[in-house]
Amino acid sequence: MPQKETVFVTGGAGFIGLHVVDQLLEKGYKVRIFDNMFRGDRERVNELVKTGNVELIDQDIRYGGAVHAAMKGCDSVIHLAAVSINKSVADSYESVDINIAGAHNVFAAAADHGVRRVVFASSASVYGDPEKLPMHEDDRLHPLTPYCIAKRTGEDLLDYYQRKSGLSWIALRFFNVYGPGQKTTAYYTSVINHFVNRLRNGQPPVIDGAGEQSMDFIHVKDIARSVVLSLESEKDNVALNVGTGIDTSIADLARILIKAVGADIEPIFNPRDVLVSRRAADIRRAQETIGFTYEIPVEQGMAELVAQA
Ligand SMILES: NC(=O)c1ccc[n+]([C@@H]2O[C@H](COP(=O)([O-])OP(=O)(O)OC[C@H]3O[C@@H](n4cnc5c(N)ncnc54)[C@H](O)[C@@H]3O)[C@@H](O)[C@H]2O)c1
Repeated sequence: MPQKETVFVTGGAGFIGLHVVDQLLEKGYKVRIFDNMFRGDRERVNELVKTGNVELIDQDIRYGGAVHAAMKGCDSVIHLAAVSINKSVADSYESVDINIAGAHNVFAAAADHGVRRVVFASSASVYGDPEKLPMHEDDRLHPLTPYCIAKRTGEDLLDYYQRKSGLSWIALRFFNVYGPGQKTTAYYTSVINHFVNRLRNGQPPVIDGAGEQSMDFIHVKDIARSVVLSLESEKDNVALNVGTGIDTSIADLARILIKAVGADIEPIFNPRDVLVSRRAADIRRAQETIGFTYEIPVEQGMAELVAQA
């Protein structure tokens, strides 16, 4: 890697973005954050700018001309800016504008500037409801919302620019990301907060049904590491799952948090029919392609989160 390569990071002021930027700086990269600060942490970005190795372009990826101009002089691109799955159902117009047209602006500019690599934050939600676990990259994709459709479209657009202009890319299908800095509005983070708040008040977590619904929780520092590995990998033009491969049920999560808080309590099960969805990544392709395996087990990550809160 040439010293002081400049990386263009859209959404670099957000939850995952700031962890990615920290790891890039540790490795000696320079960073140009492109973020409209809709959900960005301005205070933290201002501190980073003071280091002299980070610039902030406070702009919107919906403006193709702004994206193209701002990318000039950058060697590689990490595209993280997006609006969330909940917002995509509430406002499909905005979701398509940002998550499809905006992503296209980033990829088309990257192809035009001839950057060395694009890393794209895709999502496990491209699979829809999985037919089997673990979920493998070659499984049928059945994205169910405008957000999920946009993630699949993003992967297809990267493939298009690879064929058209030789763009080199890796798309990462993140599973359920958690860790320091996350806003409390993400669905599973709200479950974590809800359980922790009850435990702190001496109340047991309440679980609907048998708590079999599961997620593949992956720590944000592991996610950031997968992004940097993808930036530096020799292999490219592929979509990879990024998870732990472990499905943690809501009942498991409650027990992990009870242990982390140190409470002497059992969860309460509220008998009712719930739609059980389960998630777990097949993690072999990420291991083979970019040499990624997770390092932070969910018990450790949750314990740290509880200790910091
Ligand atoms: N957090 C997860 O569990 C998860 C899971 C799968 C995929 N992802 C993907 O990872 C990426 C980062 O997610 P996050 O959790 O850090 O989200 P986040 O909301 O914390 O960060 C997104 C950043 O993008 C910026 N942004 C939004 N719209 C923009 C626009 N129009 N122009 C410029 N900047 C804009 C926001 O200000 C914010 O700083 C997203 O693409 C998301 O879809 C996240």
